[in-house]
Amino acid sequence: MSSHLHIFASPELAAKACAERIAEVVKESLELRGVSRIALSGGSSPKMMFGALAKMPVDWEHVWLYWVDERVVPPDHPDSNYKMAMENLILPAGIPIQHLNRIAGERYPEEASAHYISEIRVDFKLKEGQLPKFDLVHRGMGPDSHTASLFPGDPLIEDDYEIAASTYVEKFNSHRVTLLPGVLKAARHTVILAAGADKAGALWDVLEGKTDVMAHPCQIAAKPPYPTEWFVDEAATKLLRKKS
Ligand code: 6PG
Repeated sequence: MSSHLHIFASPELAAKACAERIAEVVKESLELRGVSRIALSGGSSPKMMFGALAKMPVDWEHVWLYWVDERVVPPDHPDSNYKMAMENLILPAGIPIQHLNRIAGERYPEEASAHYISEIRVDFKLKEGQLPKFDLVHRGMGPDSHTASLFPGDPLIEDDYEIAASTYVEKFNSHRVTLLPGVLKAARHTVILAAGADKAGALWDVLEGKTDVMAHPCQIAAKPPYPTEWFVDEAATKLLRKKS
């Protein structure tokens, strides 16, 4: 099996293995640096994974949570990635509330993005033009091969310089704030959790199709030499030729 592609019989097993990997990476970063800064994605797949992660022995006292992206909605809105993480990970795991660096979805998109960027700059002690190096970035992949809130055709896909930005996703009629490619590429570790037959086409496009990051944004930092590991179920791999 490719070192970066971990295939499991079910979405549940893929989610559990992804949670185990996150817990491992957090432990390694705490041993090396005494602190671990991780960025989480939203959507529906992570719910199971967060539930498993919440039960794992992680030293959350030294872990700082950030978000890969957020819908521009209040934190108690059903679409909020923060709300989903709060319910499935933060509360069950008892993560200290002061360790959360949520994207302020209740603000105007540009304001939410600017506020998030300034918080990251302070936390990571960044100079102008520098990008944060997260210990771990957790991403998902949509059936259209989007990742974060970088959807096919969005000019932000070519922005390797800024930390984050707001964007409007036409097909979901949704304003979003998202980390940008430069930050995704800078991660010390990336895990991508993608399960279900509806992801099979995107997985082929991203891992075996033509390199075209504008059409398939999840190709960003998706394969070696990037330190990225995929956690997928068999259904998602049904179109892949190279499974081992
Ligand atoms: C979001 C996520 C997004 C997600 C994909 C996959 O805000 O929706 O950050 O990038 O990872 O849409 O979502 P599922 O895993 O739920 O299919």
